[in-house]
Amino acid sequence: MAAYDPEKEIPRHIAIIMDGNGRWAKARDLPRREGHRAGADSVEAALETCGEIGVEYLTLYAFSSENWKRPEAEVTALMGLLAHFLKEKTPTLMKNNIRLQVIGQVERLPASNRRALQKTITTTAGNDGLTLVVALSYGSREEILGATRKLMQAAIDGEIKPEELTAERFSDSLDTAGMPDPDLLIRTSGEYRVSNFLLWQISYAEIYITKDYWPDFGRDQLLEAVADYQGRQRRFGGI
Ligand code: FPP
Repeated sequence: MAAYDPEKEIPRHIAIIMDGNGRWAKARDLPRREGHRAGADSVEAALETCGEIGVEYLTLYAFSSENWKRPEAEVTALMGLLAHFLKEKTPTLMKNNIRLQVIGQVERLPASNRRALQKTITTTAGNDGLTLVVALSYGSREEILGATRKLMQAAIDGEIKPEELTAERFSDSLDTAGMPDPDLLIRTSGEYRVSNFLLWQISYAEIYITKDYWPDFGRDQLLEAVADYQGRQRRFGGI
């Protein structure tokens, strides 16, 4: 197994599907919320490690549009964890020069979470180290539909002709406007699925799947994923 090499290319943007919190808890006879709580510690480890090795963007799939179907108590626990994270960690984000951004249908979140998010986004807006992008109430199909609707309206309003639509313009209409596409997509807990996450943006991402549950995915595991990425040959459809 190759070791992470600071001299080799570091992915500019890492996106993570943080899966397996529930199974991690079940294996320990703990309630699911304890798995999410342990998962929040892995979020912190990922943030520290990405900052340390010079990753520019870290996008975390924290809550999908489909996650609203989970039992109310679990949704409440996840929203509580998010609020706790924002309250406790904003000073750490400031200390480490990390900027927070969000993608997804944030308007569906409870008002208190929206306020807390906005506060941290504003506080950290001037930081120019790592950008942490949290995907909340996020679904890629919904995002693509939203972008398409905006562009259709722009066409109706005469601002753009159908033949003028480019991949760049389309990218700029997504929630991720202005961000580079992910270079590395990590999914924990051994599932081989993309689950409605950044479907447009991961077109050329390298995919890394590990059996580790998210709460067990710490610094060493992240560096192993980066080492694996550094061993790949990216051809973007060329030879
Ligand atoms: C997937 O595990 C994980 C989630 C749906 C939630 C992820 C949330 C956190 C790690 C905590 C808070 C995040 C931030 C940014 C502070 P699962 O419940 O689907 O696990 P399972 O497949 O084993 O049931």
